[in-house]
Amino acid sequence: MAEILHIEHLNKTFNVDGKEIQVLKDINLDIQEGEFITIVGHSGCGKSTLLKIIAGLEKHSSGSILREEKPILGPSPEVGMVFQEHRLLPWLKIKDNIGFGLGSLDRKEREEIVQKHIDLVKLSGFENAYPSQLSGGMSQRAAIARGLSTNPKILLLDEPFGALDALTRIQMQQELLRIWEEEKTTMIMVTHDIDEAIYLGRRIVVMSARPGEIKEVIRVETGDRTRGSPDFSFYKKRIYEHFFDEPQKQSVEYII
Ligand SMILES: Nc1ncnc2c1ncn2[C@@H]1O[C@H](COP(=O)(O)OP(=O)(O)OP(=O)(O)O)[C@@H](O)[C@H]1O
Ligand SMILES: [Mg+2]
Repeated sequence: MAEILHIEHLNKTFNVDGKEIQVLKDINLDIQEGEFITIVGHSGCGKSTLLKIIAGLEKHSSGSILREEKPILGPSPEVGMVFQEHRLLPWLKIKDNIGFGLGSLDRKEREEIVQKHIDLVKLSGFENAYPSQLSGGMSQRAAIARGLSTNPKILLLDEPFGALDALTRIQMQQELLRIWEEEKTTMIMVTHDIDEAIYLGRRIVVMSARPGEIKEVIRVETGDRTRGSPDFSFYKKRIYEHFFDEPQKQSVEYII
């Protein structure tokens, strides 16, 4: 596997009201082509900022970040992004939302790509619907299709299922795994949901509170990702230990 992303000693500070706030601290991470990386960490630890830097939407303050050995100078069609809210344009049909980034192609080619992605996310029959006519899960499917339609090498997902109910969320996780297996796109996903991080991530990046540092990168070796399986529980405990103290063992006296 080739290295698609190389992040070395990366720092990010924001200037707020004349004060420097360090958001990311000494981030070192290499990502191989075709990997599925999940990122977990406290709110405000810089996860979205890191995705924005990878997307070329935000500049890092020091250190280096290379995509396929080249510095990231700005947004690129090679990097797609899906956000927590679907961000579909309400006045465009689903097919036009999905094809939005394909303006430079001729009509026939564009239609073929759009249809391929509609089928991929199982939205066939809704090509001519408007976003307001779709459920939350369907809208996120459309957003994923739009993110993949330009055939990016990397798809960044920032809490894409955060606004969905628990059952739809599990279904969407299964769908995303299927899409990843079919498309082989490198995926980097931020999530607050530890189960989701284990279910999807082949490596899980655990970050500290702000300034966000990488505390551990956990490789999920197991083939058994069934929620509640012993393997799954092992990884869950390992991640939880980074965020919460172990419950104190209490000696219990039984009076018979
Ligand atoms: N453009 C900006 N200007 C100033 N500060 C910013 C800017 N963007 C983000 N921040 C600050 O950087 C910190 C990290 O923000 P970020 O959105 O990356 O966190 P996060 O880990 O994604 O949090 P959450 O899990 O809540 O989405 C926060 O303290 C935020 O206030
Ligand atoms: Mg965020």
